Amino acid sequence: MKLTLSVIKADIGGYVGHSDTHPEVVQEVKDFVGKEVEKGNLIYSDILTCGDDIAIVMTHTHGVDNETVHRIAWEAFERGTQVAKKLKLYGAGQDLLTDAFSGNIKGLGPGVAEMEFEERPSEPVVIFFADKTSPSAWNLPLYEMFADPMSTAGLVIDPKMHDGFTFEVLDLYTGKAVKINTPAEVYDLLALIGSVGKYVVKNVYRNYDGEIAATASTQRLSLIAGQYVGKDDPVMIVRSQSGFPAIGEILEPFAKPWIVEGWMRGSHNGPLMPVSFEDARPSRFDGPPRVIAAGYQIAEGKLIGPSDLFKDPAFDKARSVAQEMADMLRRQGIFEPHRLPTEEMEYTSLPKILKKLENRFYDTEEERPEKDKITEKEDMD
Ligand code: F6R
Ligand code: MG
Ligand code: MG
Repeated sequence: MKLTLSVIKADIGGYVGHSDTHPEVVQEVKDFVGKEVEKGNLIYSDILTCGDDIAIVMTHTHGVDNETVHRIAWEAFERGTQVAKKLKLYGAGQDLLTDAFSGNIKGLGPGVAEMEFEERPSEPVVIFFADKTSPSAWNLPLYEMFADPMSTAGLVIDPKMHDGFTFEVLDLYTGKAVKINTPAEVYDLLALIGSVGKYVVKNVYRNYDGEIAATASTQRLSLIAGQYVGKDDPVMIVRSQSGFPAIGEILEPFAKPWIVEGWMRGSHNGPLMPVSFEDARPSRFDGPPRVIAAGYQIAEGKLIGPSDLFKDPAFDKARSVAQEMADMLRRQGIFEPHRLPTEEMEYTSLPKILKKLENRFYDTEEERPEKDKITEKEDMD
């Protein structure tokens, strides 16, 4: 029997501001989805929260992109929004970009990560959930998990991993995807996914047998809405053990914090801090961005868990390094590279400021690159 694991997430109201979720909203969403389990539309469900976002975790046999499953998530978020509105929570319903559900939740605001597989004799999975960042935050850890033997020893040692993994990379601006086979094409992969504003990893497959190993949400709210409506705060599912990276190999990239885009007003670079469920409440300068790791064993579709995997004190050092990185970046204030580069500010108020000043720009005698000079230089090369 093929099982589908669907994780659908949205920010439907923050408590307080954009820092956390409210228990009454979370309970409403949970109860609604729980009833769908009782009705037999789903096998099992669970709810995770990270910062001001709620993720609905569902198992079922309907496959990915299924209308019934997407509708359940949509209606659960609508119900939660009603509670958020009653409590006048901040940005109530902010990620539900339309009033009407139209068959598939993708493109309507919420983030979606789903995979279908034959449940193994034992099926450990990890669901990562981040707040105050964007889907490209997964690019670096996915590379380390599935293509860097210095991080994942199994790539060298486990015979099922030794043939490597294939990454499906999505161009966020054209919607086109490309499959890149590692280790053979690892430099091609890095050439693309190092451009975090343009390319994101959508899926990872095991070369040994084509099995799905990981999948991530890649929805970018600003590209859907055409304006800034909050960061995308992505989710990701990774399968573990017996021919997939061990739990420790999956978590290892997070022991060395790196810099991701997001944080305050979705307009800053900052360290991604791995935290326990309890500490997933970004408040300092609305951040720094953070990530939780929820481990589950799946038994006949039932979700056994979650285990709070970043609760391990072995991640304390990563948290303190992330704090230091945060201090360094904060020193830059509104200046780059703390603030995102101009191209990434496209969906904020920056274009409006430029528009306002447009007619006040005048010609000067300052030296500037001339077309013929550039051509001369090119000829010399
Ligand atoms: C970032 C985020 C927050 C808000 C900030 C301003 O993803 O959600 O940093 O951008 O708190 O929020 P508004 O504009 O709603 O006052
Ligand atoms: Mg929010
Ligand atoms: Mg959020």
